[in-house]
Parts: sequence; structure tokens; C-alpha cells
Amino acid sequence: MPITRRTFLSRGALAASALLLPAAAHARKRGVAPPASALDPTTLEPFVDALPIPKIARADGERVFAPAGTQALPYHRIEMRAFEARVHRDLGLAQLWGYDGTFPGPTIESRSGKGFLVEWMNRLPTQHLLPLDRELHGAEAEFPDVRAVVHAHGAKAPPESDGYPEAWTVSGESALYHYPNEQDAATLWYHDHALGITRLNVYAGLLGAFLVRDDFEDSLSLPNGEHEIPLVLCDRIFGKDGRLFYPVSSPPAGPWTSEFFGNGILVNGKLFPYLDVKPRKYRLRAINASNSRFYHLMFANGQGFHQIGSDQGLLAAPVPLKALSLAPGERADLVVDFSGRGGEEIVFKNDAFAVMQFRVARGVEEDKSVLPAQLRPIEKIAESTAIKTRTLTLDEMDDLVGDPVTMLLNQTHWCAPITEEPVVDSVEIWNLVNLTDDAHPIHLHLVRFQILERRRFDASAYLLRKALRYTGRAIPPEPGEAGWKDTVRADPGMVTRIIVRFSGTPGRYVWHCHILEHEDNEMMRPFNLIAAS
Ligand code: C2O
Ligand code: CU
Ligand code: CU
Repeated sequence: MPITRRTFLSRGALAASALLLPAAAHARKRGVAPPASALDPTTLEPFVDALPIPKIARADGERVFAPAGTQALPYHRIEMRAFEARVHRDLGLAQLWGYDGTFPGPTIESRSGKGFLVEWMNRLPTQHLLPLDRELHGAEAEFPDVRAVVHAHGAKAPPESDGYPEAWTVSGESALYHYPNEQDAATLWYHDHALGITRLNVYAGLLGAFLVRDDFEDSLSLPNGEHEIPLVLCDRIFGKDGRLFYPVSSPPAGPWTSEFFGNGILVNGKLFPYLDVKPRKYRLRAINASNSRFYHLMFANGQGFHQIGSDQGLLAAPVPLKALSLAPGERADLVVDFSGRGGEEIVFKNDAFAVMQFRVARGVEEDKSVLPAQLRPIEKIAESTAIKTRTLTLDEMDDLVGDPVTMLLNQTHWCAPITEEPVVDSVEIWNLVNLTDDAHPIHLHLVRFQILERRRFDASAYLLRKALRYTGRAIPPEPGEAGWKDTVRADPGMVTRIIVRFSGTPGRYVWHCHILEHEDNEMMRPFNLIAAS
């Protein structure tokens, strides 16, 4: 087996790190150009396919699952399998993978406090749909091509049901997971998390929405039923034949794919869909399920809308927006009002790029739904309650010509001993010190947290002397981030400070960058939740 620079690193040979430099402040073009055989989606006729609404996952009876207690709980069986679908009317069939053979998978609808079980059944083929990078940790040649494990992003689940990246199954196996749902109403999502191939499994289509509802939210009379629409966003590259494309990355054949940007944006699995709406209010649940893409979404007619929720549920009050920023892994709960716009066709776009279209029916529509002035009170976690502050760096390690070789959290590889060991129910502050040139969406499993602030700092002083010297004032979270979060954008040149109460079942979880290419190349660490003594 050829020894590449990355093999050194993934084997943890520290000597090799002498050859690596922290990312210098040079601008580098990111992402891989689509191949000549790729489809240019802008040549397709837009808005010819109706926006698909994923079906709701139905329970297949009830079961007693000993670790969850003696009560019978609703039981779902969801199968991962290969299937074919057309992502646009004028394209051929694409080979995809999906939960229950759909992309996105069925939407999991659940109630706060009402636990349920899912048996995640792996019925995928034994050969991967996409090219593997065998240099990545956990994806080496000794491991099977196809491995899968499901993580419910944002769910407060016990460690055995959290989808630990090494707890994968192979085709023919299944894993029974328990979701206690002891958490507030929120827009969650579920997706694959297998070590070293998460980016490929998710890209192939293994993702879906997971909603938690509760009585408090019901009492607000928000738009619901057919007026509540999930928008699962992800970008892809397709070949002209309709086939899914992902770049080959395996040194020496090709460099590591350090980020992926597709030239087409899919909503609920379609390119440029349209949705027929009535002239009234709608609730939109936007989920950024892309590997690397950050969105900046707005309506082409300039109309504003309101954000009512962030990752982990309702905000204190609606936030009026003209444009929504959404990092990979983040969610936003929105209310948009189409009243008075009967007959209009309104494009929803990502900067200049059309994503989908809303077609507003003519006339006037009765609308009993409400956009309340106040939503859910958010009690601030006081900084004084924190028993520990951790300062954790985000690192990009480059080779001598400036190509990224790996990404790390606190200069530490995945397989190094666990260093983050919070105690159950304790409060900690995490200072995320971004020493790279890029924004990284940092996600902690299990918990919800609040953003304290972002603050510019002197990176060279930090690199030379490990001295944290702030050079700017503390910037509070944006209004749409000022609620409960589980994923936070750590901007370059900034220290992003979050405050977390670590409640949950003791055991092993993970925290990581949600740029899936980074996560797959070491930008992920386990953490241990320790029982209080
Ligand atoms: Cu959405 Cu650990 O991930
Ligand atoms: Cu998660
Ligand atoms: Cu990252």
C-alpha cells in the first residue's frame, strides 16, 4: 500500500506533523470543479416538478424494549436501500440510497415526552454507490465498503441510540434505537454517520426530517397541516445521464476532497421544484442537509418573512428577515405570508441562484393561523453557572504547497484518548478558537446550547504563545441564533463562545464540524458524559 502523506497522519504518526503547517492566511479556491460530463442544471427548464412532501413514517405496531423500560412503545422499522428516482422531469433515473427507498426519507413525526423505537435496517448493496477514499480514518481497506449508522441530529437520545460513528451495521444487519423525546418541540433531522464515509452516505441520499411537537407549540396556532412544509435542502452534481457524481479522492490518484459544492440545489429531492400555495401564511421548516454549502436564502420579490425557530425549537419572538443564513446542519423554522400576493409566482433563491418557486393561487383565503408576537420564553444560562471553560481550537493542517491535508479539533485526532468529559447536568463554556480561513459549523450531539458571543482575536499570538488576545468587541448572536442551538457557525478569525448544560444519559457521544468532508477527515471528537458522583 503506498504511503501517502495522509496515511502518516491517519495512523497518528506524530513525526509527520512536522511536515504540516497550520493553514496560512492565503485564499484558496475550494471545492472541485464539476467534470465535463456533468449536467449544467441551469440548462434545465425550472419549476416543472411539484415539490415532493416526504411521507410520514408510520409506526409498525408496539414493542417492549428492555433498556427503555417495561412499557410497550411505538415501533417503526425503517429500511435503508438503493432505489432510482428522477430529480427533474427531463433527466434520466438517478441511482440513490434512501430510508425506505426515498430521498429524503420519511418524515418522523413525534411528540415531546412520547418515546418511540426505530429499528434501522441496513438493506444497502455491499458495494458503494460512490468512490471511497481509503486514506481516511475508519474507511481503510480492512473495512467493508458499505457501512451505515443513523444519527438523529438534535435528538436527546441515550448513547446506544445516538448513532456513534463506529457503531455501524453492514447490509443484512439492523440496530434498534430508542428516542425518549424528552425535549421541546423542534425541527430535527436524521442522517447517516458512519466513520470515514458519512459524506458519501448522506450524499447518496441517507437523510430525512424528524419533527418533535409539543402542547406549548400547539397552543400558538401556527400554520399547520398542509400549510406546514418541510424544505430539506442539499446540493448535488449530476451527470448528463442523470447519475449522481461525487469526486474521486484517494491519493495519489487525487487530492482529498476537502469540501464539496454541487451546481444544483435540491429541495426535498427535486431540482427547481414549485409549490402551489394559497394567499395565506405558511410555516416552512428549512433544514440544511448539504455536505458543505452555506445558504443565503431569500424571495426574489424582496418580500420579508419571519424566523420563529432555530435548531432546537422556538425563539423567544419572531425575527423579521429579508434573507436567511443557514450553515450545514442548521435548521430554521419560518413563517411566510403570501396573503395579498394572489396570482404571483415567487422564486425562492440562494443569492442569485433559483432554488424553487411558490405559485400563489388567486383570490383571498381565510387564514386562522397566527404569527404570535411572543413565542417561547428562552431562559438565558448565566455564565456564572459554568463550572468549566474549555478552549478548543479548530485547525486545518496543510502540506508545504498549501493543500489541506486534514482538519482537527484541538489538534487532536479522532482515535486519541477522550479529552472532553463534562459531568451530567453541569454547565460548561466552550471557546471555539477558529485558526482556519473558513467558517465551520460545529455540532454537539445530545445537548442544546446558547451562543454567548463571537469575538475577533489575534490568531498569530495564539499560534505562537497560546495566548488568547481579543482584538475586537464581543458580537452577540444574530437574532435568529439567539435561541436554543445544537450547531453553531464558528467564523474564521473569531472565537465563538457557547454555553452548554450537559443533561442526558451518561456515555459516549461526539462533537464535530458539520462540513461532512471535514468530519470524515478527523474534524470530529468523541466526548464522555460522566455521571455525577
Ligand atoms: Cu448532523 Cu453528528 O450530526
Ligand atoms: Cu447530531
Ligand atoms: Cu469544518
